[in-house]
Amino acid sequence: MSLIQSILANVHKSLHPERRKRIRKFQAFHFRQLQHVIFRALFGSNLKALAALYGSDKWGSHWYAQHYERHFSCLRKKRINILEIGIGGYDDPEAGGESLRMWRAYFPNSRIYGVDICDKHVHDERRIKTFRGSQVDQIFLGQVVQEIGDIHIIIDDGSHRNEHVLGTFGFLFPKLSKDGIYVIEDTQTSYWPSIGGSSSDFNRADTTMGFLKKLVDGLNYPEFDLPQYEPTYYDKHITAVHFYHNMVFIQKGFNKEGSNLLSKGEWCKPW
Ligand SMILES: C[S@@+](CC[C@H](N)C(=O)[O-])C[C@H]1O[C@@H](n2cnc3c(N)ncnc32)[C@H](O)[C@@H]1O
Repeated sequence: MSLIQSILANVHKSLHPERRKRIRKFQAFHFRQLQHVIFRALFGSNLKALAALYGSDKWGSHWYAQHYERHFSCLRKKRINILEIGIGGYDDPEAGGESLRMWRAYFPNSRIYGVDICDKHVHDERRIKTFRGSQVDQIFLGQVVQEIGDIHIIIDDGSHRNEHVLGTFGFLFPKLSKDGIYVIEDTQTSYWPSIGGSSSDFNRADTTMGFLKKLVDGLNYPEFDLPQYEPTYYDKHITAVHFYHNMVFIQKGFNKEGSNLLSKGEWCKPW
């Protein structure tokens, strides 16, 4: 340690703990601003690099960044609102926030919102806002949606409990903007009985994967040879479902192409 560093360390140690905490926060804040400017200038369009640099588990322990790039690169420069459930760091208020900062660097014109059951307000910065509450509390989620306004991307990286994931999707998907994207991470919990999944029945509709797989048939609902069939909200408002290892992207839109055969009765003609 140099002489200057050891003097500074001693001055720091002699300060009141509250004052020390404030100085640390001040330093962290300014360091993060500088880091943001550098990372964005050098790697702004490279999500894998940003994930690694910010320490997000979306690249390294999971391999999600490549899929996010495929779906999000065309939205990068847009002015949109992005909401991620699960900020990271669990009950340590200072830990987490890596993915919020990664999204802020990747989407230079967007606002990034995070929800966590634990208090994560220390991560609030320019274009980043956090909310404390549970993803299963619909009153809280309603207030979040009201405060944000139009939400174009929702990412569920919260508790990963099957009933939570499905409850949150049921509440938030209808509130997503009309051409928005809803992403669910860590769908492997669909197979874990300890948190509501099943490894004996892969199609159980109360597991995340079991439920999402059923949405795929809904994409083709105009082709069902069932004249009385009443399309669901999901049938009418989902235009694509993309499955990857442990993650799913659900594209919202108007599924209104109709059938080019059944509606004309041609399909029923003898060949
Ligand atoms: C895997 S971490 C999120 C990581 C972060 N999205 C990232 O990519 O860096 C999961 C977070 O979800 C939060 N969480 C757990 N249960 C929750 C719930 N019911 N509602 C909201 N957040 C929850 C935890 O506190 C934890 O911080």
